[in-house]
Amino acid sequence: MKKSVKHLMYIVMPCLVALASCSHRGSVVETLSPDGSIRIDISTKHNVLRYRVFCNNNEVISESPMGFTFSDAEDFGDSLEVVDIRRHSMNETWSPVWGTDASIKNFYNETVITLKEYSRLQRNLVLTVRAYDDGVAFRYTIPGQVGDSLYIVSENTGFRFAADDSVWWIPAGEFAYESLYRNTRLSEVPDAATPMTVSTKDGVWLCVHEAALVNYSEMYLQQSEAGKPVFRTALWPEPDGIAARVETPFTSPWRCIIIGMNAGGMATSHLIQNLNEDCRIEDTSWIRPVKFVGIWWGMHIGKYTWFEGPQQGATTERTKEYIDFAAAHGIEAVLAEGWNKGWETWAGNSVAVQDFCAPAKGFDLDKVVRYADSKGVRFISHHETGCNIPMYEAQLDSAMQLCRKLGIGYLKTGYAGPVIPEGYPHHGQYMVKHYQRVVETAAKYQICLDVHESIKPTGLDRTWPNLMSQEAIRGNEWNATYKATPPSHTTILPFTRFVAGPADYTPGIFKVNHSPEKNKRLYCTLSHQLALYVVFYSPMMMVSDMIENYENVPAFGFIEDIPCSWHESIIPLCRPGDYVCTARRYGDTWYVGAITDENCRLLTIPLWYLGNEGSYLAEIWCDARECDWEKSPGSIEYFRLKVSSGDSLLAALSKTGGWVMKLSRWKESAEGCSSVKDFNQQSKEKMPVFAKSATIGEKATTHRAYQKPVKYVNNFSMKFAASGNKALSDGIRGNYNFAANWQGFEGNDMDVVLDLGSVTDITSISTAFLDSPNDWIFAPKRVVFSVSTDGNSFKTIAEKTPEASDEGSAGITRIASVSVAVGKLSGRYVRVVAENVGVCPSWHQGRGKKAWLFCDEVVVE
Ligand code: NOJ
Ligand code: CA
Repeated sequence: MKKSVKHLMYIVMPCLVALASCSHRGSVVETLSPDGSIRIDISTKHNVLRYRVFCNNNEVISESPMGFTFSDAEDFGDSLEVVDIRRHSMNETWSPVWGTDASIKNFYNETVITLKEYSRLQRNLVLTVRAYDDGVAFRYTIPGQVGDSLYIVSENTGFRFAADDSVWWIPAGEFAYESLYRNTRLSEVPDAATPMTVSTKDGVWLCVHEAALVNYSEMYLQQSEAGKPVFRTALWPEPDGIAARVETPFTSPWRCIIIGMNAGGMATSHLIQNLNEDCRIEDTSWIRPVKFVGIWWGMHIGKYTWFEGPQQGATTERTKEYIDFAAAHGIEAVLAEGWNKGWETWAGNSVAVQDFCAPAKGFDLDKVVRYADSKGVRFISHHETGCNIPMYEAQLDSAMQLCRKLGIGYLKTGYAGPVIPEGYPHHGQYMVKHYQRVVETAAKYQICLDVHESIKPTGLDRTWPNLMSQEAIRGNEWNATYKATPPSHTTILPFTRFVAGPADYTPGIFKVNHSPEKNKRLYCTLSHQLALYVVFYSPMMMVSDMIENYENVPAFGFIEDIPCSWHESIIPLCRPGDYVCTARRYGDTWYVGAITDENCRLLTIPLWYLGNEGSYLAEIWCDARECDWEKSPGSIEYFRLKVSSGDSLLAALSKTGGWVMKLSRWKESAEGCSSVKDFNQQSKEKMPVFAKSATIGEKATTHRAYQKPVKYVNNFSMKFAASGNKALSDGIRGNYNFAANWQGFEGNDMDVVLDLGSVTDITSISTAFLDSPNDWIFAPKRVVFSVSTDGNSFKTIAEKTPEASDEGSAGITRIASVSVAVGKLSGRYVRVVAENVGVCPSWHQGRGKKAWLFCDEVVVE
């Protein structure tokens, strides 16, 4: 990797000169970003360590604590004094092996502050603080003077937000970060995983995350003052209560706040990667981004099985068909899940014991790899560990050796299930160390990784670029079952999960309405799926549908063509949660992708990024006039235009729709072009047609009157008459609700409050739940209905038990309804609490494991 380093002059502020030479107690050490817009202050007022962050002189993080609690030593407490301050600046540009930008600027001012306890232990603590033009970061170092090891019980880094701003977050504890994002006030967040994204009322965007996470627990944020926008860093303790066992000298991961003057600027920041070390792999020539098809979606929708048998997905023959398809369409690689022995061990309540060196019956590994080689296609192997870590670690070396021997350079891993050994958290130090061991072992055998149910990325791909993609996202696979995602989900991800790094969302489902059951589908159009190849980034980018669904679809050409490593990336237009337009350049070709939520939109796509370099051929795929997410989501059309940087294009996106464009240098031979004027006119004319199609769902909003413990409501809407004129949900019977807490995840209850808008006469309340044991979804144990006029005191109206699933009926799918006639009652707020059965019943294959709960509908009449 080439590196050009140019050091800047030190920036020395007068107060710091003073600090270096006199008493340091109660002082403030400032670190200012190179352009002066961002500042982080470290204070030791009363000999306690604290920090504050400013953006354009406005405080964004108020004075917040720092430090640790140890089980084997005292805290640093209030006896720290500054004994040394060193300042450095860095202005380098580095080139990643793959990524969203070909060159990354690493420009910051750094202050290294050494503190010493003047109390009994006299320990040292070193704080490294950096200010970038796009954020701040700091990390702790405990030098090797306090014995060999430290047992960290908790880290006390706090985040006291200066205002109770709007935040996008997911709960910390939900499985593998595969949750839907919530948008509330900061004060309403009990705990959240990072990246957690805040939009301030001044228009500044903040994203809290961590960088360079090795040999430590992942962090999350926990509210530390009830009802206030104040958080502390929480770590995942292991069974004995210790969150991190470290040796001194010890350096913590970076605690970071990315700061952008707008959402797009924040989302395209490279701060997280910049905080990681340079590439440790000397020869990176074997690390190449790939698009891949795979034997995968067929299993998720129940057409094939992962295990051996009559419906086995990964057979030699089928894999060869996928290889032929890949070769014919310029797709570089093919994944086959279920290629190996052991899947049958994972059924029921048992743990996965898979053999990653033995192919399944009906799958000839040597033959498949040789066939792929002959077609110039790479085979991608798969190790589903079921999170049985000792089982996987015992095979790690031999399994990777086998890959190396056969020339398999790509591997998808998976960790679905609770950690074995039991009691270890999925995101604690034990797992962090395991994932790192896998990355380093893979590097040794020249294998690129795509890790599912991973920890979240923290920029380690700079150091280990064979760590290509990670999941830690609610991806397309959720749309295979009842747990489909709302349309706004994809418009939130670029500003939340993707800020941390690449994600394997697995876009490219062309048959979006893949099942006649309306609960099992993708709530988007085909153009939306195409646009995700620009809006999202992963250097291992799946083309995830079954190959038969790509046959004879001309729009597939867009996917064949698109790169998965870029020279430049920008977000010229966005409103997180509503719409996003991303533009990425490879050489002098630009690809532009735009997506919308449940609303149709006419976006004005700028072309200023083309510069004054003449004309371009714009090739556009977009929702056709007939496109309707419900009836004809695959209705797509193609345009060619001659454009230059001064033009603006009107992009008409249907509800849940998308829009993509390839811009290549104009050649006189280009034919069949429409004029920009005609194109824009046609786009305008589509809008009234798009507006007529049905709208999906209602967005959950924060409940103003009833704050606790309920955090979300679905507002009353007259828009959806389908369930009577007081339908309080998406209004479509049989379509479950999208708002996050309408679903009792992993053993949790559902607790919703409906706001009727004003005090209303109520005669009945009815609700319905999905009962689908195949999907681990069960009707609730009990439903409690209550009503309130003020939103504060609720009166219980009835408690009901819906009919439970039949004994042993794993195949059934039905809706379990519960109704209550209330006579005549007035109220504005209706609360429905549904108690999850907790764990799957004894007859179910998942007995003892957490059950899911899905509300279909609440109707108030
Ligand atoms: C969950 C992963 O996210 C998915 O991609 C994979 O197919 C299954 N586990 C089985 O390993
Ligand atoms: Ca997953």
